[in-house]
Amino acid sequence: MTYLLLTGGRVVNSTGSTNADVLVHAGRIEAIGNLTDLPIVDVERVDCTGRLLLPGGVDVHTHLDSPMMGTTTSDDFASGTRAAACGGTTTLVDFAMQGAGQTLLQSLETHRQKAKGKAVIDYSFHMCVTDLYEGATDEFPEIVSSGVTSFKVFMAYRGTLMLHDGALFDVLRTSSAAGGQVCVHAENGDVIDRLAADLVAAGRTGPGSHEISRPPSTEVEAVRRAIQIARMADSPLYFVHLSTEGAVEAVAEARANDWAIAGETCTHYLTLDRSLYDAPGFDAAKVVLTPPLRTEEHRDALWRGLRAGTLGVVSSDHCPFCLEEKRRLGEHDFRAIPNGGPGVEHRFIVMYAEGVRKGRISLEKFVDLTATAPARQFGLSPAKGAIVQGADADIVVLDPEGSTTISAETQNQRMDYTPYEGWKLPGLIENVYARGELVSESGKYVGAEGRGRFLERSAL
Ligand code: URP
Ligand code: ZN
Ligand code: ZN
Repeated sequence: MTYLLLTGGRVVNSTGSTNADVLVHAGRIEAIGNLTDLPIVDVERVDCTGRLLLPGGVDVHTHLDSPMMGTTTSDDFASGTRAAACGGTTTLVDFAMQGAGQTLLQSLETHRQKAKGKAVIDYSFHMCVTDLYEGATDEFPEIVSSGVTSFKVFMAYRGTLMLHDGALFDVLRTSSAAGGQVCVHAENGDVIDRLAADLVAAGRTGPGSHEISRPPSTEVEAVRRAIQIARMADSPLYFVHLSTEGAVEAVAEARANDWAIAGETCTHYLTLDRSLYDAPGFDAAKVVLTPPLRTEEHRDALWRGLRAGTLGVVSSDHCPFCLEEKRRLGEHDFRAIPNGGPGVEHRFIVMYAEGVRKGRISLEKFVDLTATAPARQFGLSPAKGAIVQGADADIVVLDPEGSTTISAETQNQRMDYTPYEGWKLPGLIENVYARGELVSESGKYVGAEGRGRFLERSAL
């Protein structure tokens, strides 16, 4: 069939919602409106009565096939993007780590080869800078002009990933001059390392100590410092995975001054809390992710930050390591547990259920946070993030009357657990279309292999 016509659904965009049919042709949205009498043949009609038609999710924070803390994340580009598609996410921006002893351009090429022919949804990369060797910044213009228009730096993990403040300053000013933007992991790594060493010296080596070693102030201090360094570099800045009330306040103050500071939080900070670190045995390792989960007060502040527009994006920070792998590496010392958890498959439905259905955000705000704003922030608009004429036909058909039960047994992520085990949520993701192709039906991948395309993003 040449045409696809989704009839009778409610089209939701960040700007508003309307009952309308959607006509798709050659991978793009051709028309939106009352189209049932359109004189076209060769059309597949799909009845979407009672369904929501939502823009495919855009997740700008994933780590697929990524070397980290002595191991590699468990999802590669095939399994991770299948899981994303089944969960309603049709675009990813993944982190390309700088390889040991590799230049940035070499590392980027390594990551490109990992994705090529494997990804089933469209994707792009952020370039992680973990070693600012002589000449590294000279490569920024070529990286940006190849469509990788954002960089990530770490203010934690000294000795492996962390850049000192001078290097952060250099990355900011060079990236800005090249038309790129910088994503910052804001935690005070040196203080964390000392707190962690004290805990181990006191015999507190279990996974629950991870949270204690990274108190909220370690994030807040680093956020405030990074904002000032960005000011000195005259550069915009995007904070990844913010988790604390103090960070929201710092970003709000900066934005009130019209400084180009943006922030994201993640599904898990909005829906889980620190009580999971009290789990018996090694189970707390499931949520050894960074920054750690916080108390309800912080969680409420993050929801307020989203509603106020202080935080503009919700990502998954999908950084999966199986529990057995976490145990192998860190059973005797929590500092060696690889930091991260799964989430790309469940970000969309968890945000819909916990956000929209619990009355915390509107449907339009949900669309903005999970698709429209991340696409705009990272140069993927207008092709991605909205159901509008001319955009890519990335569409999620969601039945609000249906329900979803999350379980490790049935998930597509290559993982032996999910922190949302057993959650029964309102809403069921039925069909997922990516560039007009049906890629998922009720949580099962039905699309072609390796169909995803690399997206060259525009510079700022
Ligand atoms: O827990 C996480 N997120 N692990 C490492 C990757 C990151 O974003 O810092
Ligand atoms: Zn990070
Ligand atoms: Zn991450």
